[in-house]
Amino acid sequence: MQWSPDSWRLRQALQQPSYPDAAALSNVLAELRQLPPLVTSWEILQLREQLAEAAAGKRFVLQGGDCAERFVDCSPRRIANMLKVLVQMSLVLVVGGERPVIRIGRFAGQYAKPRSADTETRNGIELPAYRGDIVNRPEFNAEARTPDPQLLLRGYERAALTLNFIRALVKGGFADLHHPEYFDLDWVAESPHRDDYRRMVDTIAESLRFMENVLGVRAGESDRIDFYTSHEALHLGYEEAQTRTVPRRPGYFNLASHFPWVGLRTHQPEGAHIEYMRGIENPIAIKVGSNTTREHVARWLDLLDPGRSPGRLTFIHRFGVKRIAEGLPNLIESVRAEGGRALWICDAMHGNTQTTSSGVKTRCFEDIYAELEQAFDVHRRMGQHLGGVHIELTGENVTECIGGSRGPSERDLARAYESEVDPRLNYEQAIELAFLIAGKMKNG
Ligand code: PEP
Ligand code: CO
Repeated sequence: MQWSPDSWRLRQALQQPSYPDAAALSNVLAELRQLPPLVTSWEILQLREQLAEAAAGKRFVLQGGDCAERFVDCSPRRIANMLKVLVQMSLVLVVGGERPVIRIGRFAGQYAKPRSADTETRNGIELPAYRGDIVNRPEFNAEARTPDPQLLLRGYERAALTLNFIRALVKGGFADLHHPEYFDLDWVAESPHRDDYRRMVDTIAESLRFMENVLGVRAGESDRIDFYTSHEALHLGYEEAQTRTVPRRPGYFNLASHFPWVGLRTHQPEGAHIEYMRGIENPIAIKVGSNTTREHVARWLDLLDPGRSPGRLTFIHRFGVKRIAEGLPNLIESVRAEGGRALWICDAMHGNTQTTSSGVKTRCFEDIYAELEQAFDVHRRMGQHLGGVHIELTGENVTECIGGSRGPSERDLARAYESEVDPRLNYEQAIELAFLIAGKMKNG
């Protein structure tokens, strides 16, 4: 079948909202098609090259952010805090892994969510499930839950506002390695890792000085930390509207994000999401877990990466701490048997979600780290390497995940639980996790 930006429409598209007014939806999609892109093809291709280097063990990926961005959180403080936590984690990882870190946010467009059921029932009333701010609103009433196509425009605009602010901060030196004090957060002073963190920052400053003074090279632009954007390519009408050709380069690009991924619920090889991803030039990722078969792997590789080109395809595995030891070796074998040269990233969040006795969705810090440890070990044992980590986190002091050295207990969860969807590591837990990962990378 010939690919086109809308050829997915001939396949079964799971997890799509059902809009009451089809004409209103097509008007919005037509308007979206006219708006300027969020990212450029050259940035996308640069990321693709960097991901190829990560697949070869020369870089490491830190992919992180909210499970779902909320429109109300599109504020300067929230955005800056998210960048800060990602920059600080990445600094720790650079020192631990002795490799450059590629920073990819789950931001500037992570607004659409897959749900396990299409509807939600409370007190005998059944309404459409909340599918993310770009589709409907979380309040439990019919008006809020009815999918509204105007929200696609609001989401696109907020993605643009977010990215505009990120670009301005980065350009202004927010994440310049020469000035670690720019991205210091108050918390560091109280952290049990304070001394380690300061030592790492000093090591980095020292290395930069050495390079510049002794070797006579100016670290220049390359030491400016860049951010790439990623989101789940879930709402296919929205993704299609951003899929364009560009002057002087062949092929179609999704210009709403550098690095779109397909989630676990929509990754069927014969489904609409894989059909859509097949034709774009972006580096792409697929979430995989215990339900993944050898046949899936073979079909994905043939459809998405027929040339087995490093950087094109990333597998983000999310087995959960109890299943990774059993599932990951088979998955790696399957990819090898098909000649795949994928990049491997461990999402240590989505296989570790649990519900407390009082019905709160949470995750345990210790499970998250234990899954990552196993991921490093399994890849190493099989003669390859884990190329990155995928984490749901926030720069705020929320209480959504349990554990860590000063983290909330089950009783504390009610204190600052904000997420409408999955529980995120808070700022302190995220930094602690980075230290543990860095130690694992250094010491094996
Ligand atoms: C997510 O990344 O928020 C998500 C829904 O993940 P998965 O598709 O792996 O369940
Ligand atoms: Co999630």
